[in-house]
Amino acid sequence: MTGITEQTAILAKYFDLNQNGKVLAEYVWVDADGHTRSKCKTLSKRPSSAEDLPEWNFDGSSTGQAPGHDSDIYLRPVAFYPDPFRKGDNIIVLCECWNNDGTPNKFNHRHECAKLMSAHADEQVWFGLEQEYTLFDQYDNVYAWPKGGFPAPQGPYYCGVGTGKVYARDVVEAHYRACLHAGINISGINAEVMPSQWEFQVGPCSGIEMGDQLWMARFLLERVAEEFGVKISFHPKPLAGDWNGAGCHTNVSTKNMREVGGMKYIEDALAKLAKRHKEHLVLYGADNDMRLTGRHETASMEAFSSGVANRGASVRIPRSVAKEGYGYFEDRRPASNIDPYLVTGIMVETICGAIPDADMYKEYARESE
Ligand SMILES: *[C@@H]1O[C@H](CO)[C@@H](O)[C@H](O)[C@H]1NC(C)=O
Ligand SMILES: *[C@@H]1O[C@H](CO)[C@@H](O)[C@H](O)[C@H]1NC(C)=O
Repeated sequence: MTGITEQTAILAKYFDLNQNGKVLAEYVWVDADGHTRSKCKTLSKRPSSAEDLPEWNFDGSSTGQAPGHDSDIYLRPVAFYPDPFRKGDNIIVLCECWNNDGTPNKFNHRHECAKLMSAHADEQVWFGLEQEYTLFDQYDNVYAWPKGGFPAPQGPYYCGVGTGKVYARDVVEAHYRACLHAGINISGINAEVMPSQWEFQVGPCSGIEMGDQLWMARFLLERVAEEFGVKISFHPKPLAGDWNGAGCHTNVSTKNMREVGGMKYIEDALAKLAKRHKEHLVLYGADNDMRLTGRHETASMEAFSSGVANRGASVRIPRSVAKEGYGYFEDRRPASNIDPYLVTGIMVETICGAIPDADMYKEYARESE
């Protein structure tokens, strides 16, 4: 690890060089495997909005996003953020992927999600996502676990402080600062139940910005971890056995739910969620069945359940919300590897109503073709 850190220090001195007025724009997109990819473009000036940014393209046959005979995928900028790595006026650009024939790429779930969000803009839906993840070393061992063995059982690690209880705080701190620099609504971090598992929270974010900010925060995490020679896994059950899985608990509220008497709207929403439990689970992350077993603070996949302050329920109503009679609810089913556009999209579709030209299933079906 030292070697990598030293190289980063050497690189840093080139960052003071004059860019001669040019702005570097790192274009980021979601690939076929639920990770991000990126490449960089020089711009002559800083854009004032995403519309100012030029469309670009990449070879989709190299990323599993397009066939070789028709491999151009177009990158359409949708948002941009200050770049915490290159700093200055440089930016990171989040893009949607579009096919040559003018249709959204099959891994572009943002397009339909954005339609649902804007159709229901009056409801002012807010989200908060708790992204859990696990660190691995370059040889695919859980980071800092004893070679060929296991650490002591779970217990001291959750929000742990001190040697032997917490690992890779440096990576986590660096990521936290990178998110703040980029303007991500990161609301906190904590060490998780399994050693070398962490969580960061993003929110509140409204509508489509939830998915945008979570993807950007994930990009920043993998990018930061690269400098430490650490790998990030978003798998919901990275390790079999008595080790906690990783989820992406999703806080949801509409304007009505947040106002006095809002509990009525929360209960209506839960009744709607109960009816579509199975459909939601299809969109709540691959391999989630390995995590939602009814153990390790999860609900079983079989049936929908909800309860006040119940960490074993599919959906939890925080005690403070039940007491005050308004607020939000927490869907505990989504796995750590969700596409947040699918989850926030189906959530709004279920609670606020379907719209004719967006259907999160049809969307998902395109991906699983
Ligand atoms: C979600 O709600 C829980 C309480 O139920 C809270 O502790 C957490 O900070 C919230 N997370 C986000 C990202 O809003
Ligand atoms: C970030 O949170 C603040 C409130 O803390 C809110 O006003 C703002 O709209 C949020 N940003 C996004 C992108 O939703």
